[in-house]
Amino acid sequence: EKGGHEYFMLKEIEEQPEALANTLRGHFDNGRIVLDEQRLSDQDLRDVDKVFVIACGSAYHSGLVAKYAIEHWTRLPVEVELASEFRYRDPVLDRDTLVVAVSQSGETADTLEAVRHAREQKARVLAVCNTNGAQIPRESDAVLYTHAGPEIGVASTKAFLAQIAANYLVGLALAQARGTKYPDEVAREFAELEAMPAAVQKVLSTVDQVRALGRDLAESKAVLFLGRHVGFPVALEGALKLKELAYMHAEGFAAGELKHGPIALIEDGLPVVVVMPSPKGRAVLHAKLVSNISEIQARGARTIVIAEEGDETVRPFADELVEIPAVPTLLQPLVSTVPLQVLAAEIARSRGYDVDKPRNLAKSVTVE
Ligand code: BG6
Repeated sequence: EKGGHEYFMLKEIEEQPEALANTLRGHFDNGRIVLDEQRLSDQDLRDVDKVFVIACGSAYHSGLVAKYAIEHWTRLPVEVELASEFRYRDPVLDRDTLVVAVSQSGETADTLEAVRHAREQKARVLAVCNTNGAQIPRESDAVLYTHAGPEIGVASTKAFLAQIAANYLVGLALAQARGTKYPDEVAREFAELEAMPAAVQKVLSTVDQVRALGRDLAESKAVLFLGRHVGFPVALEGALKLKELAYMHAEGFAAGELKHGPIALIEDGLPVVVVMPSPKGRAVLHAKLVSNISEIQARGARTIVIAEEGDETVRPFADELVEIPAVPTLLQPLVSTVPLQVLAAEIARSRGYDVDKPRNLAKSVTVE
């Protein structure tokens, strides 16, 4: 049942506050982060000296986002890799390596094979999964379930946000085991996560504005996405959504790379979506991005800026401004992704495509 929506994806986008709340629920108990199934001891977690996050598609992007938080909180090196690449190179793994396998379905063949490879090398595997009892969690040493509920739309939305939250819980569990965060700091980070469903609810008030923008951009040939820091994987996710749904050429770039190539793509009228960091959180990054936007605008780009509410400095450079609530820097992807999901869905709908069942794609890919 689409619940009165034209397509499931829009319904699932609107279910994101609930998906986040359900994913966090019960994971902070007696002052400690708790996982679901843990066949790893506290000592095993303390011994971890390196983390790999392996996944495909949007799940991979959730890992790219989480890298920033996990490294910051735990001081462990985190590598994020596409499962299909990880499996067929020769990654350096041993019993002190934690491999976090992120998969909505828990059945993705590339991710499953990567898990098997990791376990053969004696690495510990922790699954982040949305499907109870699926193969990947069954073959893992520990599990953290996302509780996004069933996702019908082939392009991931609420599962993606839930994956980010779950990956963050993994980071906090490691920080707690390693003592790189005091218990009161872990509690504070968890409380900030718990405030996110309300922030996502707030960003849903931009749905009508972004849908109108989507209709307006439906005839574009290509769209570029720019971001920095945690906004970079958000840009990648925004571009992936647009490719998947609207069959449009879309690329996400790290804004710092602009001068090293992508700026050559800017031409008159090309829509460029820019994910702005908070002006308060990372002022240096913010200033750099403002200068990036002015550069592309000067070359004729049509700038669509996703920025924190009250961010006045960015206004003169934004042909279209989409305001998102102010949240801690590391948590911004949970709100900044939402308009990009709506944008892709609405461009696809305007072009007459089936938003829930994009051509050539399957919800779960069980062959390598
Ligand atoms: C793709 C889906 O085929 O698989 C994406 O279209 C998804 O939405 C990706 O992110 C990975 O799937 P899973 O189930 O392993 O998270």
